[in-house]
Amino acid sequence: MKRILVVSGPNLNMLGRREPDVYGTQTLGDIEAAVVARADDLGVSVSFFQSNHEGALIDRIQAAVDDEDGIIINPGALTHYSYALRDAVASVGLPVVEVHLSNIANREEFRATSVIAPVCLGQISGFGADSYIRGLEALCDVLMGERQ
Ligand code: DQA
Repeated sequence: MKRILVVSGPNLNMLGRREPDVYGTQTLGDIEAAVVARADDLGVSVSFFQSNHEGALIDRIQAAVDDEDGIIINPGALTHYSYALRDAVASVGLPVVEVHLSNIANREEFRATSVIAPVCLGQISGFGADSYIRGLEALCDVLMGERQ
């Protein structure tokens, strides 16, 4: 069975209470439960990791080399400036899909740039909690050999 790591970065532990008009009212736990349900349908296993600390995120991504087959990542604000996180994603050589709840292209100008996206298979942005589900489906298609 393919194993997928779902990584969430800074402040995503605050979902539900954090700017609900932008990010919705679901908690990260709610989103993770929906991901587990879809993963069960798709026949893959998922593990989750959230941290507010760049180094902890990098450590977990590096550990995925031995433990997982692919990664879904919502890097939070690190999306826009963390070259260290980008290098970690590039270094593991696993397929990675970047996801965002909000559409980062139509918000403040600084959010429109992702330094992570160029080292990912692709980015899904703007579908709320469903971005995680769409990301999972896209990654599964790749892992099952249905897409390149
Ligand atoms: C976010 C978008 C980022 O710009 C922001 O800093 C976040 C959440 C999203 O999921 O929409 O923390 O990654």
